Amino acid sequence: MQTQRLDTSSAAIAHAAELLRRGELVAFPTETVYGLGGNALDEQAVAAIFAAKGRPASDPLIVHLADPRELARVVATIPALVGQLAAAFWPGPLTLILPRHPQVPLAVTAGRETVAVRVPSHPIARALLVTADVPVAAPSANRFGHTSPTTADHVLADLAGRIAAVIDGGPTPIGIESTVLDCTTTPPTLLRPGGISLEAIESIIGPIHIRTRPTGDEQTGMVSPGLLERHYAPDHELWLISGPPALALARLRREAEAALAAGLRIGLLLPDEDLAIVRDLPADTETLGPASDPAQMAQRLYAALRALDERQPDRIFARDLDETGLGRALRDRLRRAAARVIEA
Ligand code: TXA
Ligand code: MG
Repeated sequence: MQTQRLDTSSAAIAHAAELLRRGELVAFPTETVYGLGGNALDEQAVAAIFAAKGRPASDPLIVHLADPRELARVVATIPALVGQLAAAFWPGPLTLILPRHPQVPLAVTAGRETVAVRVPSHPIARALLVTADVPVAAPSANRFGHTSPTTADHVLADLAGRIAAVIDGGPTPIGIESTVLDCTTTPPTLLRPGGISLEAIESIIGPIHIRTRPTGDEQTGMVSPGLLERHYAPDHELWLISGPPALALARLRREAEAALAAGLRIGLLLPDEDLAIVRDLPADTETLGPASDPAQMAQRLYAALRALDERQPDRIFARDLDETGLGRALRDRLRRAAARVIEA
């Protein structure tokens, strides 16, 4: 199969919507990352999503809707809190775990009685969902376990020949995935930090539970497989240096020098201001923007990881980041990408 690269004209979107209705797979931009879409109510399309990604059938998909009013198509009962969350954050990068409607195939939810739902805000995603007029199951459009795609080129690098089309809407504005919030617990539980911060959610519904690290039990029970330790991983091993910024940066420099002395090729992934401390080292370096601007760092993170991977360093060193606001999601993705975390 030759994967078509579509533009964002209304004719191209109508074509993509028709492909979805016929059970084909179409990757499309959302405000977070590119999604690999298929008709959520079509079991064969859902099976094709898992096959194209090489994703285990035990890892459930997010269902994307054009409008919150369509919730009743995929959700059996709507908890009271959902109205408040939807009013505050939809359309946008918040995914809610809710009771599954019987018409949603169990293949979408990996056999669970819950379903993940979100209403994306990206204009191309919205146009596609409105035109297709079906709920669209869409994981991130990458090979399973690989770095999520923030451009159509990233999608094609992973999935060319395996899907019918990708709509090229340019780089995605947020750059990391949606926040996943389980609304079947009281209070709700944060399963994956993402584009909507914990602080923003708590400002609307009060304190919530946080579960960002799986226990052994949850790993085997696969509560939310996106919580597995190794995920979003680059092809080359990443060492993350954690601790107060000055200490972590000094330790990063020492580790990088040791690796160079051992004859390794190294890559560096850093906020702008760290560059001065390592500028003299022979390394492939990607900067993420100022440490004071987590939104910019999030937007650039996955492209930077892919760019480093392409240059095939033996080891990538990154400095851990601050955990407030979007920083929590950034830190989470860095930790999941890391083969090793060193406390400075
Ligand atoms: O921003 C995003 O969320 C992107 C865009 C394309 O919407 N999608 C995305 O999908 O990141 P994916 O499949 O890469 O991640 C979905 C996460 C996984 O960690 C999955 O395990 C979890 O949501 N999930 C899905 N359904 C679930 C359920 N019923 N219960 C618990 N976790 C669930
Ligand atoms: Mg993913």
